[in-house]
Amino acid sequence: MSVVDPKSSSSHRTSSFPAHSTNRSVCFLATTFITFLLLLFLLQIETLKSSLSWPFFQLHKDESPCHDATTAELNRTRTILRDLVTFLPLKDVRVSENPRSGRTWFMSSMNDTFEEEEEEEDAQHLYFPSQASNGRLLCLSARDVSDGAKNSYALAWSEALPRDATLLSGLTFISDTYYDHGNLWHGISAITPFVSWHQRKQCAAPDRWVLFHRGELRTRMGGWVRAVAEAAIGEVRIEDFREYGNGPSCFEQAVVFRHEGAMKKTRKRQVYDMMRCKARSRCGVTAEAVGSKAAVRMTLLLRRWSRSFKNESAVIRIFERECEKVDGCTVKVAWSNKMTFCDQVKLMSETDVVASPHGAQLANLFLMDRNSSIMEFYPKGWRERAGAGQYVFRWMADGAGMQHKGSWWDPQGEECESTDKTPCIPFYKNRQIGHDEVYFAGWAAKVLAEAKEHKLKEASSGGGSPEVGSTPCPCS
Ligand SMILES: *[C@@H]1O[C@H](CO)[C@@H](O)[C@H](O)[C@H]1NC(C)=O
Ligand SMILES: *[C@@H]1O[C@H](CO)[C@@H](O)[C@H](O)[C@H]1NC(C)=O
Ligand SMILES: *[C@@H]1O[C@H](CO)[C@@H](O)[C@H](O)[C@H]1NC(C)=O
Ligand SMILES: *[C@@H]1O[C@H](CO)[C@@H](O)[C@H](O)[C@H]1NC(C)=O
Repeated sequence: MSVVDPKSSSSHRTSSFPAHSTNRSVCFLATTFITFLLLLFLLQIETLKSSLSWPFFQLHKDESPCHDATTAELNRTRTILRDLVTFLPLKDVRVSENPRSGRTWFMSSMNDTFEEEEEEEDAQHLYFPSQASNGRLLCLSARDVSDGAKNSYALAWSEALPRDATLLSGLTFISDTYYDHGNLWHGISAITPFVSWHQRKQCAAPDRWVLFHRGELRTRMGGWVRAVAEAAIGEVRIEDFREYGNGPSCFEQAVVFRHEGAMKKTRKRQVYDMMRCKARSRCGVTAEAVGSKAAVRMTLLLRRWSRSFKNESAVIRIFERECEKVDGCTVKVAWSNKMTFCDQVKLMSETDVVASPHGAQLANLFLMDRNSSIMEFYPKGWRERAGAGQYVFRWMADGAGMQHKGSWWDPQGEECESTDKTPCIPFYKNRQIGHDEVYFAGWAAKVLAEAKEHKLKEASSGGGSPEVGSTPCPCS
């Protein structure tokens, strides 16, 4: 068994099992005492010279019955414990029909635990070693990148880790997602419970992350998702297990989150507040940059290709025209695919109203000040066909304490010919969005007026962006 220090992964050092020195010295004393008696006995029947030296050494060295027996017993017990370690598939195909409700297919034999202080507030998770694991560590043999059922997990006592196991010291964050760690929305849903755990546990930061997608190993996080995780928690080191041979890896401490959501609204808000604060701080956004309290700053956050507006310049003109009618209103137009993470953080820090097509770029919404507004646009077909998933940014806005000001579903466009539901999804997903000048103008006027009123109220009460400038962020 080798132990790997995460701070300098090149330094492998070998550790032995605990020495059991008490047992040994008892044995040694007993051996010496028996030897002494034996010697006396021998002395009585043999002449002094013929009997003394070699039996003593023989007994003391290797054939002490007590020492041997104890070591053999320990060895046997350890072997039994080690052989009892049972690996089960990480993805339990028996529950794959309904992987997201209740019992999940990832480590399906284990029940989530709540700790007392976090009761029902936080997402359910697993922690190892814990009372629930009988003090056992989590071990993974999980290098497969295409079949979660080929990866496996087990629990083992640190004194009897599986053969060829590598013990990875420190804290490990293990995340399984039904979706992915690349897309902004899915990625942030997967990391939010870890941010919450990190904050609650005196800012404990992991030495490594282990990522799974339906039990398949993943070694990358999307750039934006990783930037949020690094701002909120600290450096992200993603484990690929390549340097530890073919054996399993066991974790000194491990936290596992395997389903998104399940966090109470009040808790979610605190976590989004912290992520906003730390992202702004990391990107050098100051209270001054956040800007005038009476201004109303609108941003059109646009997309290229799929779900872009068919006539962008026409849409921009509508919003500019409405903004001109509001005192202190400004409009910015941005394409998130062209921006660095910090550009996005800065832009959203300076935005009170974001208008944007439905899409991953909207995950940036939590970076606005609390109570900021969102206007969302969908191409034809979504309302009827896309299911509940199309409302994710309403949920996120609610979670982050923003105001979702409604959605516009384009009524124009070709119908999908297919009668089967599935082939229509890519067809609708990738199409463009039209516009309705009269509707957009009326909607913008209403949202801008409300935002203006909110800003004025806030300015007069001396509120506004309490998370920037005035107080340090949590865990900084
Ligand atoms: C106990 O195990 C150790 C290490 O595996 C081995 O070197 C030793 O010979 C074993 N002793 C007995 C008495 O089985
Ligand atoms: C998990 O919870 C279920 C239902 O409460 C229970 O029947 C089962 O024994 C638990 N399993 C473990 C491993 O604790
Ligand atoms: C975009 O809209 C403007 C104003 O409604 C119109 O003049 C222009 O022709 C449109 N452009 C395209 C490519 O449809
Ligand atoms: C958000 O708006 C609501 C209602 O106007 C208000 O009660 C609340 O204090 C505001 N929160 C923040 C953080 O500005």
